[in-house]
Amino acid sequence: MAFDSRQPIRPKVLDLFCGAGGLALGFQQAGFEVVGGIDHSEHAVASFDANVAAGTGMVRDLRDEDFSDIAAFLDGNSPDVVVGGPSCQGFSTSGGLSRAKGRDESDPRNRLFTNYVDLVERLAPSWVVFENVPGLLLYNQGRVALEIVQAFREIGFNLVPMILLAADFGSPQLRRRLFFVGSSTDEELPFPAATHGDADLWRNYSLPFAHLSRIGHGDSGELTPHITFSEACGDLPVLKEGESLDGVQYPCAPQTAYQRLMRSGSTAVLQHTASELAEVDRLAATTLKQGENWRNIPLEKLPDRFKRIRPYDATTILKRLSDDRPTYTITTKFNEGTTGAFIHPTQPRTLSIREAARLQGFPDTFRFAGSVNQMRQQIGNAVPVPLARAVAEAILPAVVKTAYGVEVEGSRDTVLVNGNLKPEDILKLKAPRKNAKKVAELAEG
Ligand SMILES: C[S@@+](CC[C@H](N)C(=O)[O-])C[C@H]1O[C@@H](n2cnc3c(N)ncnc32)[C@H](O)[C@@H]1O
Repeated sequence: MAFDSRQPIRPKVLDLFCGAGGLALGFQQAGFEVVGGIDHSEHAVASFDANVAAGTGMVRDLRDEDFSDIAAFLDGNSPDVVVGGPSCQGFSTSGGLSRAKGRDESDPRNRLFTNYVDLVERLAPSWVVFENVPGLLLYNQGRVALEIVQAFREIGFNLVPMILLAADFGSPQLRRRLFFVGSSTDEELPFPAATHGDADLWRNYSLPFAHLSRIGHGDSGELTPHITFSEACGDLPVLKEGESLDGVQYPCAPQTAYQRLMRSGSTAVLQHTASELAEVDRLAATTLKQGENWRNIPLEKLPDRFKRIRPYDATTILKRLSDDRPTYTITTKFNEGTTGAFIHPTQPRTLSIREAARLQGFPDTFRFAGSVNQMRQQIGNAVPVPLARAVAEAILPAVVKTAYGVEVEGSRDTVLVNGNLKPEDILKLKAPRKNAKKVAELAEG
């Protein structure tokens, strides 16, 4: 492919199920050119178009399998990488995803995935980054994940999955995402090595699938500490429950590198909106200390369903965040204290739209479209931008080499994984540590 040697090469990326564009934004920040983002949500696409790459958002139901409109929309801008993935409802847990095993098209949940594979086959990018929830690795004892690998192998892609913890890549959030990175070449597959870490991370936390992602912990000597809530959000204006500030001045200069990064190019605080609280949330938000949760509230004051939770479970429900820790996963319901760890560390309310956006790595200039409810959907659904950027930076040199035949230097440490792993080894993969060796060690039991 022709290129101008005076310009940095910007490989082209198409984002399927793009939402507001957390994943695409990370790729853009890493140096990719976003040529398209497709989603059936009009509001998500409006956010994508206004904030990520103007004119590249397409509102479309990806269950529709006549792809001619997508080809026309891309208008010759053939992507080098296709990224994104259908949410977990996009799979039946009984498999039937690959052609060899007989696709189970009768189950409409599979349609989104099989369409994805068909579209990748038609667009023929040289790389794919298929992103999903970590729990996918557990569906049907891992068979769904292996079916996914198999379905991509049938169209000429080697693909391996890896669970990555966002906090290990400079996000202030203990959120895991599953990334399948794949290539149509025989290149080893690069994953980003952790840059941030905390040797004691799991001591006071209980997280589902913790065992699946022992990332960067234990030997955190070279790692920067995880970014905390106050490092991420401590410069935002004080806000009351039910209050909304939009277009107001920042109360202070940025105090940390993360705040400077988020505020780059921003002159005012946008969409700093906190919801009215339900009664039980208000009780929690006015009485709990940092790090405390529903167990610190008398059971008779809680809704009945709390009586059915085992006391040692659900430690991240109705929890007050700590200033000096990263947050837990920001979901689409971060306004509801009873659904997660969403109570502000020092103010009697749940997280605002702007705080949640920051915790997901969306810059302060990003203005979300739609109702407050739709904004929460877009934010909670997103891949944290710093995590997306890390994955994008890890593959960029390999993509440039495959697509343009040019060697460029990478901007971060990576761990290379053999794309031809046997199925049983694929399920044993552990997330990459800095200085980690290659496949054999990664796949070790
Ligand atoms: C997990 S979110 C994607 C988040 C996005 N990658 C980001 O980082 O911001 C999944 C998206 O799939 C979209 N979606 C679900 N079903 C769809 C369909 N049938 N066609 C198109 N988009 C769909 C949803 O609207 C949602 O925005």
